[in-house]
Parts: sequence; C-alpha cells; structure tokens
Amino acid sequence: MKLSKEPFHYERLVEELELKIANGTYKIGEKLPSIRDFHEQQNLSISTVYKAYVELEMMGLVEARPKSGYYVSGFTKTLKEPTFSLKKSPPRKVDLAAIIHTVHQAISDPRMLPLGGLVIAPERLPYKQFARILKGISADLMKSLLVYELPEGNIELRRQVAMRTPGIEGGVDPDDIIMTNGCMEALALSLQAVVRPGDTVIIERPTFFVVLQLLEEMGIYVIEIPTDPTTGMDMAALKKIIETNTVKACITQPNFQNPLGALMPDATKRDMVEFLNSKDIVIIEDNIYSELYFGESKPVSLKRFDRKDLVITCSSFSKTLAPGLRIGWVIPGQRFKDRIQRLKTGFSVSTSSLDQYVLAEFLSGGGYDRHLRVLRSQVRKQVRATAQAVQNFFPEKTRLMIPQGGAFLWVQLPDGIDSVALYWKALEHKIAILPGTVCSASHMFGNHVRLSCGYPVTNTILEGIRTLGNLVRGMDKENTLSHRKKSL
Ligand SMILES: Cc1ncc(COP(=O)(O)O)c(C=O)c1O
Repeated sequence: MKLSKEPFHYERLVEELELKIANGTYKIGEKLPSIRDFHEQQNLSISTVYKAYVELEMMGLVEARPKSGYYVSGFTKTLKEPTFSLKKSPPRKVDLAAIIHTVHQAISDPRMLPLGGLVIAPERLPYKQFARILKGISADLMKSLLVYELPEGNIELRRQVAMRTPGIEGGVDPDDIIMTNGCMEALALSLQAVVRPGDTVIIERPTFFVVLQLLEEMGIYVIEIPTDPTTGMDMAALKKIIETNTVKACITQPNFQNPLGALMPDATKRDMVEFLNSKDIVIIEDNIYSELYFGESKPVSLKRFDRKDLVITCSSFSKTLAPGLRIGWVIPGQRFKDRIQRLKTGFSVSTSSLDQYVLAEFLSGGGYDRHLRVLRSQVRKQVRATAQAVQNFFPEKTRLMIPQGGAFLWVQLPDGIDSVALYWKALEHKIAILPGTVCSASHMFGNHVRLSCGYPVTNTILEGIRTLGNLVRGMDKENTLSHRKKSL
C-alpha cells in the first residue's frame, strides 16, 4: 500500500517545497524541516522525504550540509535589478536597436536550437486531434467555412472562452469577447483604442520585446517601472510615477510575466487596479501565460478587481494549443467594446473562419483541460531541467529564479558578460537565445538572457546549454584577464 503511494507523495513534496522556495516562504540560506520532521508531522516515510530532498538538491534548490541538514541553496539568489532612479525616468520614445530584426529571424529559424522563441514543441500540442477535426469536415461544411466569419468571431469559440472566465476574469459573456489574430492583434487593437502617438504608457521593465516594437512603431512614449522577478511590477514606483506624469495606460502581464516569470500576488493585483481605477488610467492586461501555472490553480486576472470598466484583457491559444493558427481574443469591457470592434473590422475584417472552427471543435469536444494538465506538468519539468542544466554548466556567478509558471527562464550572467556578444557566438553554434537588452526601452539587462523551455530537454538541448555555458565561461575568463591586465 505504502509503496504504491510513494511516487505520489514524493512528487507532491518536491512540488510543495519548490513552490515555497520560489515564493519566498523559505528564504535563501534558511534551514528546511529535517527528514524526521516531515516523517513525523506529515506521516511521510523517511525514504519519500529523502527522495524529495535528493531531487531538490539535483535541481539546485537545496543543499545538504553535513551533520546539519538541508538548506535553501543560493542558486535562487534574487536577480539584481539595475538601479532605478525615479528622477531619471521621463517618458521616452522606444528606439530599439537594429539587432531586434535578426533576433526575430534567429528565434523562429527551425534550424536553430529552440532556446530563443517562446514556442511549445508541436509534439506537445494536440496535433492529432486537430488533424481528425480537419478530416471530419464535409464539403458542405467547408463551403460554409470559406466565407468571412463575424468580425467579433466564431460564436461557439467565444462561448468556450467565456466558459473559462468565471472566478478568473470575473465571468464574461460570449458577447463580451472579440476574437483576434493572436494576442498581438488584441494588444495592438487595445492600444489603438486608448492611446495616440505621443501619449505615454507605463510598461514593465523588462518586458516582452514585441510589445516594445509595437510601441516604437506607434510612436508611443513609455515609462518603465522596475519589475520584481517574483512579484511583478513595483507598486511604490508605479504610484510615484503616476503622481508626476500624465499617463494614458499601463500595459502589464500580471501572470508569469515574460521574460521574468513573475506572478503578481492577488493583494498587489487588487491594489494596482484600485489605484489605476482611481486615476482613470486604463490597464491593458496581457494574460497569455495564465494557463501555464505550476501551482494549484489558475491565477486570477486583473479584470476580476476592475470596478470602473478600465481593464482590457488580452490573451490567445498560442502558448497552449497552436501559435500558428493565430487565434487570440480581447475582453474589452463595455467602455471600449465598440471602438475595438470597429478597429478590428478596419484592420483585418475578421479572424480566420477555418482556424476558429478547428479550435471551437477541439474545445467543445472537452479535451482541453486534460491536455492542459499534461502540458503544465511537461512544461514545469522542462523549466526545472533547463534550470538544472544552467546550474550545472554556467559559471557559479550566474543567477536565476525558478518561476511559478510560464515556459521560460530569465538568466542573469556574471557581471561584464555582454549578452548580445553571447547571442552572436551562440548563433555560430546554431543556438538561438534572446539577449536581455531587447527586453527594455532603456537597453538595460546587458548581461541577461531569456531561455525558452518549450521543448523537451533532450540530450541535444542539454548539449546546447552546455555549449552556452562554455561560451559564457570563456567570456568570463577573457573579462577577468583583461581586467587584470588593465590593473597591472
Ligand atoms: C507576453 C506575450 N504576449 C503576447 C505574445 C504574442 O502572442 P500571439 O502569438 O498569440 O500573438 C507573446 C508571444 O510570445 C507573449 O510572450
């Protein structure tokens, strides 16, 4: 009886401790409960607890100290946010470096090792079910799918999306949803509805680099707010900035922020929405990673706390079902619904009828939750394995946090390592990574990289991470040597 329960207990304990270390319940250097404590208090066998600790040790989250016990390892050292001066934070135009264009090419090049682009491996997606749905389309049905879909989107798909919102977005009707070409179109339409060229918006620092590109193209000014790798946007800094600047909107990803992986606590979400509501500032919420949570339940959306109809929520199926189908949605609220609807029609008429049909069929077939359960567990393992490989192969001064969701890792390299130089060197080895500098309008994070964890961690991926680690070591050594030469 006990033996058959063993794997369950052991996995559960690993998950519980991992989460408590990630959310700071157990701090770096803190002693963890002993094997005996767990044995006695939680009625777990000694071998179960021991196995959990060995796994956590292998993941680099805990370290065993002889004759003393297990401690939270320094591996999860908080990432150092570059210093932030409120005085030096006037609205700035986004002016991204030319490298952004090669980065786009590199991270979507199938010949590269996929550590750059945030895509889930196609073998992890329900491609067989989609093929079956396509095969089942009769000639008559196909005829009906060749016409334009309603501008607001397929009614069954909107119904399916709406069914997933109670408790998360606060509950919305199918009529409150407009389907879009991915989350990017949802964000672009929301911005168009709210801001004009020359207006200022608040963004996170660092943030998703494609949004920076969009803001650059739209001629929007930004003020970047430092964002904590665990808890998200710094509320104190946000409030100070709002008091002294005229701001039209705030773009934020409260759930598993790209590239940090931060998850904003519910109390902070409420505080943020209440504060921005009180200033009549629109929030454009990018909630694309909320289904990829590693904890117990899906994190709530900012919309849930909205009292003034000022939160616009954007999302898509790109991280869970099919980035190539380009199906996303916006929940605009009553205030912006008509405007976003008109913009949608003006920009792209409607979203693909066939692609929406395939997704609506898949969702109404009832397999999505099962698929998500498997996917979350796979992605969580991939994130852990990637983090472990970074710990094994990168120099000791490398820092990272294991996020509580998402499919990526934000890695801080030793001081002085230029992530753009690393990016070019990695490309020579056919490895794509995202250099941190493209994630901020102020070109910070020069020694950070974002690694994607969307693919199974095969030996090829491990070799790639080892190669990256060797490149970083080589660059670190060169830096130390030239430093020494200079000081001679
Ligand atoms: C935070 C974030 N928002 C939006 C997008 C774009 O999503 P879509 O492919 O659905 O347009 C991505 C894709 O990587 C993302 O990471």
